[in-house]
Amino acid sequence: MKMERNITVNEAGHLVLGGVDATVLAEKYGTPLYVMEEDKIRGAMRAYRSSIEKFYGGNGRICFASKAFCCKEMYRIADEEGLGADVVSGGEMFTALSVGFPMEKVCFHGNNKSDKEIRMALENHVGRIVVDNMEELDRISHFADELNVIANVQLRVKPGIDAHTHNFIMTGQIDSKFGFALETGEAMAAVKKAIETPSVRLCGVDCHIGSQIHEVTPFVKAGEVMMDFIASIKEETGYEIDELDLGGGYGIRYTSEDDPVPYAEYMEAVSAAIHAKAEKHGVKVPFILMEPGRSIVGEAGTTLYTVGAVKHIPNVRTYVSVDGGMGDNPRYILYQSKYDFLLANRADAPADTTVTVAGKCCESGDLLGENVPLPETKAGDIMAVLSTGAYNYSMASCYNRNPIPPVVMVKDGADRVIVKGQTYEDVCRNDV
Ligand code: LLP
Repeated sequence: MKMERNITVNEAGHLVLGGVDATVLAEKYGTPLYVMEEDKIRGAMRAYRSSIEKFYGGNGRICFASKAFCCKEMYRIADEEGLGADVVSGGEMFTALSVGFPMEKVCFHGNNKSDKEIRMALENHVGRIVVDNMEELDRISHFADELNVIANVQLRVKPGIDAHTHNFIMTGQIDSKFGFALETGEAMAAVKKAIETPSVRLCGVDCHIGSQIHEVTPFVKAGEVMMDFIASIKEETGYEIDELDLGGGYGIRYTSEDDPVPYAEYMEAVSAAIHAKAEKHGVKVPFILMEPGRSIVGEAGTTLYTVGAVKHIPNVRTYVSVDGGMGDNPRYILYQSKYDFLLANRADAPADTTVTVAGKCCESGDLLGENVPLPETKAGDIMAVLSTGAYNYSMASCYNRNPIPPVVMVKDGADRVIVKGQTYEDVCRNDV
C-alpha cells in the first residue's frame, strides 16, 4: 500500500524503508536510529546530473554539499555517481581524503579557514579553494608560494539577494559573514588582486543565496547578477571567468506545507537566464557548478525512536517523550523546523490526537515538534520522523552524554551500518 509522500506500509501496518520493515530495524539496531534510503540519494544525484546534461550540455558539475550529511560512505556514493563535493572544514576534507575521493572535484568553502586547513587543501590538491576575504587571499598565496603550487580559486561573492524575504535590494546582503560584496566594489577589487597574484589562478566566481528555498526567482536573479559580474570583469580587466558556482539551497519537503519545485524546473529557468545573459554580454557560458546538500539527502532520511513517557496535562497539552531529541536532531531547537511524524508500528492508524513530541535531554526546549498529529501513542511505540537525512546526523551532539545514534543504509530489502553508533566508551574517549 502506498500512502501520501510515497510512504510504504506493509500488511502488518508497519512503515517500510528501502524494502525493510522499520520496526525490524529498530529491534535490530536499537533506537534512536538514523535510516537512509540509498535509492533516494542516488536518484537525487542522478536527477541533478541529468539536468546538467540537459540544460548545460554536460558543461558543469554537481558537488554534493557534504555538510548536509558527512560520512565516508557519502563520499564513496558521490564519487560513484560522478559528483564532486563541497567541503567546509579540515574535518570534511579529511573524511573525503580517507576514502580516496578525487580531490580535484572538491570545492573548499569557509569564511574563516585556518592556516592548517589552507595548507591541507593545497598539499592535497583540492580542486578549488573558495576565497572568502582579502586576508585569506593573501594567506592562500603565501602558502601556495611556500609549497610551490598554484592555488586554483573561486571568489565567494554576495550577489545581494535575500532569498527568504524576497528582497532583491542590492544592499540587503552586505550584512553577511560570507564573501565579497558586489556593490561596494570589494568583489571587483578581489578579482583584480587574484588576477595579479602569480601563485593564484582565478578560475571562477561563486555564490550561495540561502537554504531550503522554494522559489525559482531568487536563483534566477542570482544567476543573472553573477553573469553581469562576469561580464563586467571581462570589460574592466579583459579576464574571462571560466566557472560559475551557483551554490546550493534547493528546498525539500518536510511537511505537507512544503511544495518543492522539481530540480529540473530550477535548472531550466536558471540555465535560460544564464544563456540569455551570456548572449547579451557577449561572454561565454561558464562551466556551471552547483552544490546541493539538503535536496540530495534530506528526504532520504528517517529517524526512528522508541516512545517512553506519555504525559497528559489536562487543558494544557500531551507530551510524548522519545529516547532521542536535540542531540540527534537539533533543528527544532535551532530553527523550530517542522517535520512529519508517524508511528512505524501503526503507520496506517489515523492521526486523531495532537501532541508535543519531546526529547530526553534535560532542557525544556528539547522538543522535536509541537501540535503534532499522531494516533493515540503509548510507551513502546516506534516513532518515525521523516525527512531527517540532512543536517541531523551532521549537526548531532552527545549533549547529556547521550551517544550519537548509528546510521543504517537501506536498499532493496537489505540494511547495513554506514556509521556506527557511539558507545559510552566513545563519549568519554578523550577525557583525561
Ligand atoms: N554551498 C554553500 C556555500 C553552503 O553554505 C551551503 C549550505 C550549501 C552549498 C548547501 O545548501 P543546501 O543545498 O543544503 O541548502 N543547518 C541548516 C542549513 C545550513 C546550510 C548552510 N550552507 C539547516 O539545518 O537547515
